[in-house]
Amino acid sequence: MEHKAFAAGNVALVTGAALGIGRAAALKFARMGLRVCMVDLPSDDLDASFEEVSAAASDEVAAVPADVSDLKAMETLRDSVRRHFGGVDVLMNNAASRVGRGFDADLADWRRLVEVNLWGVIHGVKCFLPEMGTGGKPGVIVNVGSKQGITNPPGHPVYNLSKAAVKSYTESLAHELRTNGPSSVTAHLLVPGWTTTGKNEHRHGAWLPEQVVDYMLTGIEAGAFYIICPDDETSKEEDRRRILWGAGDITENRPALSRWHPDFKNAFETYIP
Ligand SMILES: NC(=O)c1ccc[n+]([C@@H]2O[C@H](COP(=O)([O-])OP(=O)(O)OC[C@H]3O[C@@H](n4cnc5c(N)ncnc54)[C@H](O)[C@@H]3O)[C@@H](O)[C@H]2O)c1
Repeated sequence: MEHKAFAAGNVALVTGAALGIGRAAALKFARMGLRVCMVDLPSDDLDASFEEVSAAASDEVAAVPADVSDLKAMETLRDSVRRHFGGVDVLMNNAASRVGRGFDADLADWRRLVEVNLWGVIHGVKCFLPEMGTGGKPGVIVNVGSKQGITNPPGHPVYNLSKAAVKSYTESLAHELRTNGPSSVTAHLLVPGWTTTGKNEHRHGAWLPEQVVDYMLTGIEAGAFYIICPDDETSKEEDRRRILWGAGDITENRPALSRWHPDFKNAFETYIP
């Protein structure tokens, strides 16, 4: 990895690091020689991942329990990271909740999901960006979105809206860094495909979290803002067409989510290879 933010001895902070993509990222960063701060809700999973990452690391690793939706907890985290590590060079806002499935789900769950998936990302940036890029030091911020935040499939509307908001927020963040700086810090939107995470059994078609992390590093290295992962079921070309079809709903004045509208079934299927 040539990107200077990933230099050995630099500090990476990963939220949602107890499981899945966050755990794989923490492990990879540790193996690359970075010092790693793993953040997640307190759990045996966080303890176990900390043990695993520490065993693979050549430098320091810390596991800090914190709820990303809680600004005070994130400020406390920032203060302890400042004391212990001195600052952050790679910030990966990855933690996410999936509560509140369905349109009629409890509003408390909808609120909780937005607090974690959107406000968690905003809190991460608010707490750590001000001390990044000092003196032109290279830095990277990765916010984790989803294809559901781009194509908006039916089924989990609050998750979709939270990820659409993360996309919008991260686009604005990239523009802000480009225009007002610090220009040595870049922002990236990581959009995993179907990935086996949590405690789920690996199924044919899905990627492993390690593949997502490798794809992310290649994308960052290439200077990509949108890092949209394919998987073994959905190709890059299929993703490209699905995204263009969704944008076409607006430009062609089709009904919302026409991809799932019976009147457009044939047209969509013809459009997708
Ligand atoms: N797995 C997929 O197929 C997929 C697809 C698209 C996007 N994503 C995104 O990738 C990211 C990682 O997801 P994953 O699949 O690895 O999930 P995962 O469930 O395996 O891990 C998510 C982690 O976030 C933690 N977390 C939840 N709420 C938290 C909070 N309030 N504060 C701190 N930590 C919290 C969980 O405890 C868990 O360890 C998420 O942003 C998710 O939306 C995943």
